[in-house]
Amino acid sequence: DASDIEKGTYPHYMLKEIDEQPAVIRKIIQQYQNESGQLVIDQDIVDAVDQSDRVYIIAAGTSYHAGLVGKQLIEKIAHIPVEVHIASEFAYNTPLLSANPLFIFISQSGETADSRQVLVHVKKLGYKTLTVTNVPGSTLSREADYTLLLHAGPEIAVASTKAYTAQIAVLSILSEVIAKKRGLEVNFDLIHELGIVANAIEVLCDSKDEFEAIAREYLSTTRNAFFIGRGIDFYVVLEASLKLKEISYIQAEGFAGGELKHGTIALIEDGTPIIALATQESVNLSIRGNVKEVVARGANPCIISMKGLEMEEDRFVIPEVHEILTPLVSVIPTQLIAYYAALHRECDVDKPRNLAKSVTVE
Ligand code: G6P
Repeated sequence: DASDIEKGTYPHYMLKEIDEQPAVIRKIIQQYQNESGQLVIDQDIVDAVDQSDRVYIIAAGTSYHAGLVGKQLIEKIAHIPVEVHIASEFAYNTPLLSANPLFIFISQSGETADSRQVLVHVKKLGYKTLTVTNVPGSTLSREADYTLLLHAGPEIAVASTKAYTAQIAVLSILSEVIAKKRGLEVNFDLIHELGIVANAIEVLCDSKDEFEAIAREYLSTTRNAFFIGRGIDFYVVLEASLKLKEISYIQAEGFAGGELKHGTIALIEDGTPIIALATQESVNLSIRGNVKEVVARGANPCIISMKGLEMEEDRFVIPEVHEILTPLVSVIPTQLIAYYAALHRECDVDKPRNLAKSVTVE
């Protein structure tokens, strides 16, 4: 219950929850580690995922965006093909299923009706189900075959922040454990890399003034805003734009950098804010090319890059982390920018209009 959880010195739960993210990452590492320092997951779950020929991730809202990143992790690290589906669409747009699917439901609350409806349906078809949730004993946890917990602590603010990073961290651990079980080579030490991520998030949480300044400069009066990214940054900008919409009511869109020219660039006017993420070496030049295209049409660019890839025009440089884990870190500036944009626009940060923390109707 929200009233039992103290905000302490924080003006809003959202800001407290953003700040909790380094501790949540460290808690997850600790919870999924055995005495000899290995990452471990229940054998039943490992077997179910390992034996599936395709993973179907089902989720809504921010959890759906975490699922898009999770797909990259599972495919790249564990080499299992993954599809990610919006829960409310799955019933009508049911894809042709593989012979041996495993369903993963990602849900902070474990109560989302759209996701539950899919769970009930696929259980009837006899498929194995795993819920990744923050709430032990929640409906989706009870009704699925297996559960992985986020250990993020209660999330009170309607706009989800720490659950998103926790979902990605847990999916990275699942991917690594499956890879090991399959005898695949994992050429990095995930525990070590997640530790670096936690430290990097801490650095960003100590840079609030800079994100407040960005929000003030770019978003205090604008009608709309665009976020762009390529590769894994594209998935993060989808979440960034959702966060901004949810709490500041600015019409925001996240776009794949290369797709802008196929239509959306028509919306660029003098002063339109464009926030670009540049954390991936392979697309660093091409995303910057997209920024140039919109700047030529009057856009006001704000490039957030990662150390090692930075260029002179960048507005903020995040600390370097492993390239597959960048969403855990690059999302933080976008959470804080959304928070301060909402604050500057005098919106109710923790309880935005028309939204509920968990939606228990279809
Ligand atoms: C609601 C919330 C969102 C959340 C979505 C899915 O719409 O407002 O913040 O991402 O539900 O919630 P879940 O609990 O399933 O992750």
